[in-house]
Amino acid sequence: MKNKVALYGAGNVGATTAHWLAQMEIADLVLFDIFGQIGAGKALDLYESGPALGFDGRITGSNDPAIIEGADVVVVTAGVPRRKDPETGKFPSRDELVKINQEVMEVVAENIKKYAPDSIVVLVTNPLDAMAHVMLRKTGFEPRRVIGQAGALDTARYKTFIADELGVSVEDVHGIVLGGHGDTMVPLPRLTSVAGIPVTELISQEKLDAIIERTRKGGGEIVGLLGYSGYYAPAAGTAIMVESILKDKKRVIPSAIYTQGEYGYHDLFIGLPAVLGRNGVERVIEFELTAEERAMLDHSAEAVRSVVAVLGYD
Ligand code: 2OP
Repeated sequence: MKNKVALYGAGNVGATTAHWLAQMEIADLVLFDIFGQIGAGKALDLYESGPALGFDGRITGSNDPAIIEGADVVVVTAGVPRRKDPETGKFPSRDELVKINQEVMEVVAENIKKYAPDSIVVLVTNPLDAMAHVMLRKTGFEPRRVIGQAGALDTARYKTFIADELGVSVEDVHGIVLGGHGDTMVPLPRLTSVAGIPVTELISQEKLDAIIERTRKGGGEIVGLLGYSGYYAPAAGTAIMVESILKDKKRVIPSAIYTQGEYGYHDLFIGLPAVLGRNGVERVIEFELTAEERAMLDHSAEAVRSVVAVLGYD
């Protein structure tokens, strides 16, 4: 039987994820969006692009959440994005979105539980780590079936800047970004290489520090340019996670996972190296961190914890 992926939210990130997934030909796609006919309209538009580019697979959309019924994977992008406040002219931080998106997420979770009770949820809505917390709690799914998309995007940004600095192919840059999806995220230069050569031997500490800072502020940089959140890179990060799940590739992709003792954390979503396969998070890879890396990860975990506290769950 063909796989089914539901895009819960057909805004920029949801629709662009559908776009990448359609070209991968790994599933039939359904686009749900609560607003008007956006889901149906974007689905039909994307479906009609298949003959030109030569990809098969059914793509449908609706404003009725029942369309997600029986999905193998549900990608959740529903929620309010970071957008300039017309009165103050300021952008809200990811964390300021917590209360408003918590309400959205609770409804989304109910619908997923109802229509796609066996699905794996890949969550993208910000503030990411806290929204994953809401999703897990309200669906009651096993923790390995609720995964936050963060490290895939943050790592992609990090690798982009390194490849650009060195003028080498992105394919030869390997690295990992751990921690929460926020300004406290933890890129690990010690474990970053270019075709196996440690990046610390290729780029000066000063430049690496600047790359790390740019990675941490990567979401804000795009918001500053566009006036709203980026979507190509977030969608690409999401698509590779879905691909690894559906094809059971078992790729190691840093993802926000619900910790139950991994790295000493409990009951908290935080970005860690996860093996993604048909069962969702199949394993978390643990390795020794230096004292400095550990301190940064702890700091990031604390930042996530403070947002989770805003949710008001006991
Ligand atoms: C980003 O980092 C908005 O979280 C999104 O671009």
